[in-house]
Amino acid sequence: MSAEQSDDAASSAADGGPAVRRLVDWDADRLRELAADHGTPLYVTDLDRVRENCARISAAFPDADRRYAVKAHTGRAVLETVRDAGLDAECASAGEVRRALDAGFDGSRLHYTAVNPPAPDLNAVVEWWEENPEMTITVGARDTLDRLADRGFDGRVCVRVNPGVGAGHHEKVRTGAAPKFGVPYDRAAEVVADARDRFEVVGVHAHAGSGIHGEEDLDAHADLVARMGELARGVGELEYVDVGGGFGVPYREDDEPLDLDSVADATRGALGDVDARLAVEPGRYVVADAGVLLSEVNTVKPTPETTVAGVDAGMTDLLRPAMYDAYHAIRNLDVGGGPPDGSRETGPVTVAGPICETGDTFCDGRHLPVPERGDLLAVGNAGAYGYEMAMTYNSRPRPAEVSVDGDVLRARETIRDVTRPERGGER
Ligand code: LLP
Repeated sequence: MSAEQSDDAASSAADGGPAVRRLVDWDADRLRELAADHGTPLYVTDLDRVRENCARISAAFPDADRRYAVKAHTGRAVLETVRDAGLDAECASAGEVRRALDAGFDGSRLHYTAVNPPAPDLNAVVEWWEENPEMTITVGARDTLDRLADRGFDGRVCVRVNPGVGAGHHEKVRTGAAPKFGVPYDRAAEVVADARDRFEVVGVHAHAGSGIHGEEDLDAHADLVARMGELARGVGELEYVDVGGGFGVPYREDDEPLDLDSVADATRGALGDVDARLAVEPGRYVVADAGVLLSEVNTVKPTPETTVAGVDAGMTDLLRPAMYDAYHAIRNLDVGGGPPDGSRETGPVTVAGPICETGDTFCDGRHLPVPERGDLLAVGNAGAYGYEMAMTYNSRPRPAEVSVDGDVLRARETIRDVTRPERGGER
C-alpha cells in the first residue's frame, strides 16, 4: 500500500479521520478571515473534528460505555455534537449537568461525578434527578452518600475509588493517588456494601489522571485498570467498571499520537474477566485538536536574549502554559513556507500576553519566525481546557468562540460583563 493509500485507509476508518490533526493542517486563509470578522483573541472550534475524535474513540472501544468528560469543553455546539456521536456525558458540577441537560442528553446518559459537592450543587442535581431518575451519581466519600440520602436520593450510584496509582502530564493533574479523590482502595468493598443498603450501586470508578502518554503512564493506567478489575470481581453485581479518561494528545509538533487501539487492548487485558461493562470517559482526546486560539501581535520588542512578541491573548484566555508549563504549538499565519516567498528570519521568540504576571507567556525563547506587529498567531490544541479555564483576572473579558463555519458559539465578553456583578460597579 502506498503512503497515500494508507493515509486514506486511516482516514476512512469509522470516519475517524487521521489520528492527529496538527496546527499546520488548519487552513490559514480561513483562520485569517475568521479573525478579521470576529476580532482577536478568538477561539475557533472545528465540530467535524470533534465528530471524528468521537468516532475514533467508538472504534477503539466498541463494546465499552463511552462518556465525554464535559469539563474539557462545555460549549453547547460541542455537547450537541458529542451527543449525536453517541457518547454519554460525565459532568463535574451541577453547572455541567445543567449544560448537558440543556444540550439534550437524557438522564440515562448523564453521570455526575461529585467531588466534595457544595450543598447547592447537590440540591440542584437531586432536583433534576427526580425528573431524570436514570442519572447516575458517582461518589467518592461516605459523607457524600449520607448527604444524598438526607436529600431523599435513592437512585443509581457509582463508587469512586482511589486506586493509589496516578499518571498524567503534570503533578497537578495526577489524580489516582491523590487522597482528595475516591474512597481508599482497601475500604472500597465496604463502602460499596454500605451504599447497596441505600442506593442502587451500578458501578465502580477510578481515574489515573490527565494527559496519559508514554510507557510509564500507560503502565500506571494498566495497573489501575487491573486493580479495578480485582475490586469488581470482589464486589460482584455491577453494570460497569469505569476506568476514567486521560488519553493524551500530541502537543509537540513531533510527538507521536497515542495508539488508541493498543491502549484499548491493554485496558481490556488488564481488566480481565469481569461480569460488567468497561466504561471510559475521555475529555481532552475529544476536543483538544478541534480548537485553536488566534491572537494578534501588538508589540514587538527585541531584547538581547529573545524577541518579545506581545499578543492580545494571555493566561486569562489560555491558562495551561502558565499553570502547567504546558507546551502548545504556535504558528504565525502571516508567514509563508520559506524564502523567497515572504518568510522571515527565525530566532528565539517569547510570546507574551497582556497580564501583569511573569508566567503570562505562551512560549519562552522558542525558535520561531520573528513576528511583526499585526501578525496573526495561532496556538494549537486549544480545544481542551482552553476556553473552560479562561477567567477575568486583570478585569479582562473572556474571548469569543466561533466555529470554522463562522457561527458565533460564545460571544465575546465586554468590560461591562466583567464589572456587572459588582455592586456600584456601573457608573
Ligand atoms: N474523568 C474524571 C473523573 C476527571 O477528573 C477527568 C479530568 C477526566 C475524566 C477527563 O480527563 P481527560 O481525558 O480530559 O484528560 N486542566 C487540566 C486537566 C484537568 C483534568 C481534570 N480531570 C489540563 O488542562 O491539562
